[in-house]
Amino acid sequence: MDYASGENELKNWIIAETGFNPDYLGKCEAMMALGNGYLGLRSATEESYVGEVRNLFVAGTFNRFDEYEVTELPNGADITRMDIRINGKRFSLENGKIRKYKRMLNLKTGELTRHIRWVSPRGEELEFVFRRFVSLNNLHCIGMRAEITAMNQDMEVSIESGINGQLTNTGVQHFHEGEKRIFEKKYLQLIQTTTQSKIDFVVNTVHQYRVDGKEVDGEPKMVIDRRKVVLIQDIKLNRGQKLVVEKISNVYTSRDKEYDHGDYSLEVLRKDALFNLKSECKKGYEGLLQESIKKWEEVWEKYSICIDSLQDFDQLAIRFAHYHLVIMTPAHDHRMGIGAKGLSGEGYKGHSFWDTEIYILPFFTYTDPQIARKLLEYRYHTIDGARKKAKENGYEGAMYPWESAWKDDGEVTPVWGAVDIVTGKATKIWSGFIEKHISSDIAFALWQYYMITGDEDFMEKYGYEMLFEIAKFWASCLEWSEEKKEYHINDVIGPDEYKEHVNNNAFTNYMAHWTISKAIDYYHVVKEKKPEVYGRLNVLLGLDEAYRHWISKVDKIYLPQPRQEDLVIPQDDTYLQKEIIDLTEYKNQKHVGSIFRDYNLEQVNNIQVSKQADTLILFYLLENLFTKDIKRANWNYYEPKTLHDSSLSLSIHSILACDLDDLELAYSLFERAARIDLGPNMKSSDHGIHAAALGGIWQGVVCGFGGVRMLNGELRIDPKLPKEWSRLEFPIEWRGNRLHIVVTKDKEKQRLYITRMSNHDNAQAITLEVRGRKYTFKERLMVNL
Ligand code: BGC
Repeated sequence: MDYASGENELKNWIIAETGFNPDYLGKCEAMMALGNGYLGLRSATEESYVGEVRNLFVAGTFNRFDEYEVTELPNGADITRMDIRINGKRFSLENGKIRKYKRMLNLKTGELTRHIRWVSPRGEELEFVFRRFVSLNNLHCIGMRAEITAMNQDMEVSIESGINGQLTNTGVQHFHEGEKRIFEKKYLQLIQTTTQSKIDFVVNTVHQYRVDGKEVDGEPKMVIDRRKVVLIQDIKLNRGQKLVVEKISNVYTSRDKEYDHGDYSLEVLRKDALFNLKSECKKGYEGLLQESIKKWEEVWEKYSICIDSLQDFDQLAIRFAHYHLVIMTPAHDHRMGIGAKGLSGEGYKGHSFWDTEIYILPFFTYTDPQIARKLLEYRYHTIDGARKKAKENGYEGAMYPWESAWKDDGEVTPVWGAVDIVTGKATKIWSGFIEKHISSDIAFALWQYYMITGDEDFMEKYGYEMLFEIAKFWASCLEWSEEKKEYHINDVIGPDEYKEHVNNNAFTNYMAHWTISKAIDYYHVVKEKKPEVYGRLNVLLGLDEAYRHWISKVDKIYLPQPRQEDLVIPQDDTYLQKEIIDLTEYKNQKHVGSIFRDYNLEQVNNIQVSKQADTLILFYLLENLFTKDIKRANWNYYEPKTLHDSSLSLSIHSILACDLDDLELAYSLFERAARIDLGPNMKSSDHGIHAAALGGIWQGVVCGFGGVRMLNGELRIDPKLPKEWSRLEFPIEWRGNRLHIVVTKDKEKQRLYITRMSNHDNAQAITLEVRGRKYTFKERLMVNL
């Protein structure tokens, strides 16, 4: 991979692959995935290879294959494959000689290009330029373009291309075969319907073939086969001539908001989709691309972060994170969440985890609150599933699913996972049963959203209800210990998934306590200030009674305290009594999860080793509950035992290292976090990019080095730039105001400049804390740090 090939205005905007290696297809397929939050298109190459994974996902179109599998995002029909034959022989980079090869994703424009000069085993020499994009302007539209130049002789070129519905999700066919049609000998249409959720997909495509600018004569051969409709076009190219194929496609589904209603008709959907294709294709590849680029310009205008660093890579990494955060997020529809792999691969089946609320949401809350609100509304729409899960488990209120899919699906965590190296059987995944902290993560995120935006409307319509229901859930989970005279939360998995069936996981207990305390506070607020909301929720949730429970229990919830001798907070009741082993080999591992080459999960459970940040995240989320000494003591204890086997870990550790003023360490952890997808491991992104890690990159920059926090409802900005950085510039939104933040460093002297971008006449002054001092300003603020 090469990240330095962008020059001038494209500097730090280009992700490039400089050589072709058929063993590592997954890396670029995922990293260079295209999309717009509605559609996700994995970047498999036009020509086909063994081991490739072609994915086209439409957000929210979940289907459950049968009762033995959980619902997943089905892999829609493929439109990216083009079989190219030169004098009857298939073009493949596995044969012949590659003279030139470069594939590039331009993060600025969202366009993917591939330049190849290739000599076939028979000596025909050709130049190929492939280009494609998924439109950010028309969410249904995908543009592709192939230029093929005959370099050294005349040749017959044949292009087979169309729509292929023969794909599966690693073997699972999620669709009934639907109708296939070719209209006017050129508009191809394929209908697919998911087997259980009965969602119709309509996929259309049209081609245009030109040689040296002139439309090719001669009709293509039309083929309709099982789950497939294609055209085969034969073209004679004289030496030096260039063939240009433009392929414009679109995808519509009956789950699209505009069609998901009682009067839905497939006929209307088909007609609309075809009409859209016919009018869009008139603009041509270039016209459609330009429209999409305009939308990308708006994105960059809104989100741009500038880092002046000795390492250009840092600037590129934050742009890469922004790019993927945009294309993975269904900002168009509040009925959908973000998948743990975005829309870039089949990993985690398109399901949403706490990754969204704790890792990704802060980015939207601070820079695009409307999208943050939609993501939280998605959780509101899933509340009935959460209530059902609570009931089924003998609890009250809302117990949110560990893994979540369509709003009515409830818990969708699969039950069986990776191999147990001792028994040879699949390991049981307990998260769906007992990883309860997700509910308070959602409560925390919605409160954070509320505090940062001041969005009362959201709270009244959704937020209070969610918060109270989650607090009810926690109150019903508490188990009284007669011996200790306190409430415990037993048999859980905390964030560290290497410890299963533990009692009193510190993170879980603190967050449950936090949720109930907040519910108590807001019970008073709604009762006193919002009688209408109070009346409604009291009837719906039995608020008064719930409040009595909260009050009677909250102060008796056991919150693991720092040990007297060393200030270490026990991660759970048994962690500190477990065996300590030398973890050096696993800490220095090249690939995550190496400990499982030597131990199974049951054995790992009995060792003081953590998969990811656990107790330490508390110091980030509930920062001012703990002193710096406690933070440092726990850091010293847990960091060496944390393997960062989850991609959710490094960014949090980087932020905490910032808080502890170890900027060198913070920077090196940040660099590692930024390389989770971008790094040299060519297999680690095969199942898709790591969505939470990308949100973590943003938090590492803005909340870590940028020092931005919301604490007790107030803004604090405490920047600390690492020695490699001389300037950091980023936007945040605070209570409806857009603030432009600049941190500069000159010979160790740091300065903070804040400019309010949105200025209405009666705008209220903004108060914030910097380095322990309060400042109030209306338009501009400068602080010497
Ligand atoms: C992590 C979880 C995370 C999930 C999805 C797991 O490996 O341990 O914390 O939510 O992946 O990203």
